[in-house]
Amino acid sequence: MKALVEKLKTIVRDTDATDIRAAFAADPARFSRYSTTFEDLLFDYSKCAVNDAVLDALEELAREAGVEKKRDAMFAGEIINITEERAVLHTALRNRANTPVLVDGHDVMPDVNAVLDAMGAFSDGIRSGALKGATGRKITDVVNIGIGGSDLGPVMATLALAPYHDGPRLHFVSNIDGAHIADTLKLLAAETTLFIVASKTFTTIETMTNAATARRFIADALGEAAVGSHFCAVSTALDKVSAFGIDGSRVFGFWDWVGGRYSIWSAIGLPLMIAIGKENFAEFLAGGHAVDNHFRTAPIRQNIPMLLGLIGFYHRNVLNYPSRAILPYDQRLSRFPAYLQQLDMESNGKSVTVESEPVEFKTGPVVWGEPGTNGQHAFYQLIHQGTSIIPTEFMIAANGHEKTLRHQHELLIANCLAQSEALMKGRTLEEAKAQLTAKGMDAKKADRIAPHRVFSGNRPSITMVYDSLTPFALGRLIALYEHRVFVEGALFNINSFDQWGVELGKELATGLLPVVEGKESAAGHDSSTAGLVAALLKAAK
Ligand code: F6P
Repeated sequence: MKALVEKLKTIVRDTDATDIRAAFAADPARFSRYSTTFEDLLFDYSKCAVNDAVLDALEELAREAGVEKKRDAMFAGEIINITEERAVLHTALRNRANTPVLVDGHDVMPDVNAVLDAMGAFSDGIRSGALKGATGRKITDVVNIGIGGSDLGPVMATLALAPYHDGPRLHFVSNIDGAHIADTLKLLAAETTLFIVASKTFTTIETMTNAATARRFIADALGEAAVGSHFCAVSTALDKVSAFGIDGSRVFGFWDWVGGRYSIWSAIGLPLMIAIGKENFAEFLAGGHAVDNHFRTAPIRQNIPMLLGLIGFYHRNVLNYPSRAILPYDQRLSRFPAYLQQLDMESNGKSVTVESEPVEFKTGPVVWGEPGTNGQHAFYQLIHQGTSIIPTEFMIAANGHEKTLRHQHELLIANCLAQSEALMKGRTLEEAKAQLTAKGMDAKKADRIAPHRVFSGNRPSITMVYDSLTPFALGRLIALYEHRVFVEGALFNINSFDQWGVELGKELATGLLPVVEGKESAAGHDSSTAGLVAALLKAAK
């Protein structure tokens, strides 16, 4: 692997691969050479610093890392999450072909289908009003209480599929900060509200604390006996749910082979199903399944998750770019960058290989972003003219859902394409000077001002185009990124499916709580932590 990375660095030095602008000028067929399609999805990576030599070497890298073999092991249900000793089978949740998927010799598909059926019956009941609150009123508002993977997916997808939302209003509470649930409860009437407590482990402090507050909200307004009609739960820990007091008929399970950040396809998707209906939810699953088939079968050079992963690795380890920006030109994908932050950074923010050795590469980059065009008026300045190169990933629908606002969609498209063109082409000093003098500026002033108006260009971007943001298209987009994360993790030779890095902070917070409550002294903590506690306690009212 190291030798191939060195080879790639040599190719970059010797072939001017990073002069993307010159490559476009020299090759009119560059777009068709370095873009590929899958169904109505167009994946254009021609504005990245690649040429045939780079791609050949990246393909070699994938083979040397055994990415295809590792992929097949995941789909086959092998224990690839080695630190937690689990299979990784979120793909089974969207296996619309219903072919057997074995975990320890047991076909999980009947279990998957049974939970989907139960979710369908429950969401039909809530949507139609057949399942009512304790006082017989129809449920008008559903609050999902969860955090991380038990929140970000449903939040992101519900927003993304707003045009399909014909069920009750949805709300999401995640933060331990009481402001989150307090602001949400202010909007709600207990009689017409259903709470979904979503937690894989059913131990997460934020979720358990918010669930207890929600329980008091119902019990105070309607009495203790009403709680059962206003709660349901989603978890792998069925014993803990029953201890909370939620009836088994209102609990939707999933399994330890579904990682939290990969769980939107499971019962964690219940709020989404309640919002858009089980038929649209099935379409969403079908989009994910279509990508699974593509990822399993397409040759590397036409395989979008493979290309995404290989280019991501190349950006990080050959070209040394520290972050990547996710820039959906789709307002309804406004939480997609946040969703990808967990998916990518919790999966690939690691330093140890699967052999428990220090990893020899730079692992996951910082992932961030905002929808366009808003980002253009905020941080694009740095992407265009800053001293760090930030690879960007644009996504845009050919068609918006707002048919009467087609002109606004045309403006959106023009802006999206203009950004990637500007990043690639840039503007030279001579061009900047010529532009200024053409506007009547004297030559001396133009010499002084022009350097500020230079854009280096050659800044890489990927653009994905899809017909429109349907449930199927969203499922496809999420699955593409899931598999991209898989490919990069396989190249880094890390376990992308555990998350030990979140544990230390949790442990220390538990230890600090009695100190913050004033029940224990801060002795033993460092002087900064002790000083901060003292200041906060002094100011506490
Ligand atoms: O703290 C990280 C994490 O474990 C995530 O991986 C997970 O998605 C989130 O917390 C929530 O966990 P749970 O669904 O068990 O409440």
